Amino acid sequence: QATSIPADRVPDMEKRKLLNLLLLGAISLPTGFMLVPYASFFVPPGTGGAGGGVVAKDALGNDVIAEQWLKTHGPGDRTLTQGLKGDPTYLVVENDKTLATYGINAVCTHLGCVVPWNTAENKFICPCHGSQYNNQGKVVRGPAPLSLALAHADIDDGKVLFVPWVETDFRTGEDPWWA
Ligand code: FES
Repeated sequence: QATSIPADRVPDMEKRKLLNLLLLGAISLPTGFMLVPYASFFVPPGTGGAGGGVVAKDALGNDVIAEQWLKTHGPGDRTLTQGLKGDPTYLVVENDKTLATYGINAVCTHLGCVVPWNTAENKFICPCHGSQYNNQGKVVRGPAPLSLALAHADIDDGKVLFVPWVETDFRTGEDPWWA
């Protein structure tokens, strides 16, 4: 008899589950409400006449001025800036010392880790599960299922402006999965 579970434990377990559910609801409901204004504060809907574009911000939160950026970032450089929706986005310096017309979203398409640039390997290599992307962010090794998202990197009034990329992905010739 000592090995069987006493019958009176069962209702207790049910009660506990219910309590957990109530607790979870109590925590997540207010959090959910708070997140909405929080998110909309940082993502103003359609920032002005720029077609939903945002000015790239550097690590200190300052606007990225293209000319200054190129003085401190040489050919082949890939450095993180803050892009659309606040996503970490790489600015790319081409070999001819101009800014690439696209930025690469650093959020891994597997489970969302920020993917660092590896200069020696000439690839983006995700530290979380080892996915790899070439120097344009095209996936070359899984588990990531898709290439890194793109954004247009335009220059507007001297500043780098990220604009949503809705056209064909030039790396794959396919429709953009992120648009
Ligand atoms: Fe990048 Fe899993 S999150 S490989």
